[in-house]
Amino acid sequence: MTAVVGSGWLALTSPNTVDDITEVWSLPGSRATLGAMRDAGLRLPRNDPRQYDELAGEWWQPDGAFAMLHWLAQARAALVPPAARPGALLVDLGCGAGLLAPHLAGKGYRHVGVDLTRSALAQAVAHGVTAVNGDAVAVPLIDGCADVVAAGELLEHVPDWRAAVAEACRLLRPGGLLVVDTLNDTALSRLVAVRIAERLPTVPRGIHDPRLFVDDRELVVECARHGVDLRVRGVRPGVPGLLRWLFRQTRAARAPVGRAPRIVPTRSTAVLYQGRGVRGG
Ligand SMILES: C[S@@+](CC[C@H](N)C(=O)[O-])C[C@H]1O[C@@H](n2cnc3c(N)ncnc32)[C@H](O)[C@@H]1O
Repeated sequence: MTAVVGSGWLALTSPNTVDDITEVWSLPGSRATLGAMRDAGLRLPRNDPRQYDELAGEWWQPDGAFAMLHWLAQARAALVPPAARPGALLVDLGCGAGLLAPHLAGKGYRHVGVDLTRSALAQAVAHGVTAVNGDAVAVPLIDGCADVVAAGELLEHVPDWRAAVAEACRLLRPGGLLVVDTLNDTALSRLVAVRIAERLPTVPRGIHDPRLFVDDRELVVECARHGVDLRVRGVRPGVPGLLRWLFRQTRAARAPVGRAPRIVPTRSTAVLYQGRGVRGG
């Protein structure tokens, strides 16, 4: 069992418990592009970034293939305080189509997004993000430029996640804030996010390579090596909102979009977790 501290943030974790099968990646299958994506997942290697090109039309569909990324972006943004100085910079590693942008509105950051996928970046630009087409393990930005670095649902897609963490920490100025969320390297996470989810008719196959999932304790250790004291906590979609959302997906494809499920803290980090930490001086 992980030790819960305060609001659920964990300083360091002991082995995860398998007590919380709450991660759901159920996706509506009403769009042609989603069908193409499922085919792409069979044609392309697991975790091939070209899959995001196949699904480019889904990013900003609130009930689309990336619906859960919208919920997670809202929860990630909630970890980011208003900018402490004019011109503060937030670097969003693996920004995709910029889903974080609306949730940062009014917080006072310049939002720079780094991503491999040009089709996603083009959409991020349309939402006010300054786009950098590049790899999260070799970001063409100077040391200590960022007040905040966000890496949402990125690390589990990077073959060398440690290199991406090193890069994230390098970009942070002393006192800067790192916020991450990712999938844990546990049997439960592989079961839920891959084996179960990919059997559902609307879930893209092959979007995740479970060999890349990130052990939360190793992430904490790696951040510490780079001067960031990361605290982690498990998160999951809130049950009432998730049930309402799932119910809506089972009805006609044209059922009106409702309130999005909220991402809430949960005791176990075994599947999905957030981390936040400040870089020391
Ligand atoms: C699951 S999406 C998450 C997007 C965004 N962070 C969000 O939460 O909406 C993963 C994103 O990471 C990008 N990505 C994967 N590997 C990357 C790498 N090595 N460097 C930069 N971006 C990468 C993909 O192109 C994709 O846009």
